[in-house]
Amino acid sequence: MDLPRRPRRLRSDGVRPLVRETKLHASDLIAPVFVDATADERVPIESMPGHERVPVDEAVERVREVRETGVEAVIVFGIPESKDAEGSRAWATDGVVQRAVRAVTDETDAYVVTDVCLCEYTEHGHCGIVEDGAREDPHMTVDNDRTLELLAETAVSHAEAGAEMVAPSSMTDGMVGAIRAALDERGFESTPIMSYAAKYESAFYGPFRDAADGAPAFGDRRHYQMDPANGREAMREVALDVAEGADVLMVKPALPYLDVVANVRDSFDHPVAAYNVSGEYAMLHAAAEKGWLDLQAVASESLLSIKRAGADLILTYFAENVAERL
Ligand code: PBG
Repeated sequence: MDLPRRPRRLRSDGVRPLVRETKLHASDLIAPVFVDATADERVPIESMPGHERVPVDEAVERVREVRETGVEAVIVFGIPESKDAEGSRAWATDGVVQRAVRAVTDETDAYVVTDVCLCEYTEHGHCGIVEDGAREDPHMTVDNDRTLELLAETAVSHAEAGAEMVAPSSMTDGMVGAIRAALDERGFESTPIMSYAAKYESAFYGPFRDAADGAPAFGDRRHYQMDPANGREAMREVALDVAEGADVLMVKPALPYLDVVANVRDSFDHPVAAYNVSGEYAMLHAAAEKGWLDLQAVASESLLSIKRAGADLILTYFAENVAERL
């Protein structure tokens, strides 16, 4: 048969690794860690098999477990001992994240990123101060400008505790600029910001809200997180964060938004991060539990696809599981 082009010539075992375009490394991955000030022992997160909320005094041990798999970076989320209207435990010097980060940076060599948001800390579960009357009126929402100062204060308190990078996730307009200015003013000009730059109002965050107890008590997040229908708008969102000084640009969720990951990759020269969120993790586990999918295979394939789309780094609950097999 005269077939001049046979792509399968490059698919034999010996040559496949040589022509492979995308490779996953443990150093691409950031593992989320949940620290719970209300827990005195580890609490499994039911909708995220293999993940737990750990008490503050087990944060170091938890991060050591991550490091043993080869993963070098963690992102720390906190569940505070109490909540209020403003989320004041988010920037408390003795807050849950601040205490955990102090211990983890003292006692491990992990690279520590912190999530900067107020939704785990406010009694209403929104990502900032809510406008008066928001409880009754579904058209009202978070007070954007009053929230900026609180986010900046939170980011500074994380840096003071030793956080090596801060990751604002509240989709407050101007958050990156406000945090950058506050960090610089307080001597943290070398602390990078990984912005949740294009964060969608996604139903794939469901299990996370169980994990971190940050579901809104009323309303939803559609007035501040992005509409899943919009791809071009993501480029405007990302451009704003670049102008405000973001160092790393994140797209979230990952798999349902790979077009956005690819467009951010093409349009900006910053490192691109993608957050393979709780729902993306939970659905593969649920299908695997039924025997319908091979968990290890789909986990690796998912992360490889996110990287192929253009992400340099991936925040994922599969970090430890996949890193162990690399
Ligand atoms: C805080 C925050 C959320 C996630 C990361 N940071 C929740 C949300 O925005 O509702 C979601 C992570 C996940 O689902 O894995 N704002």
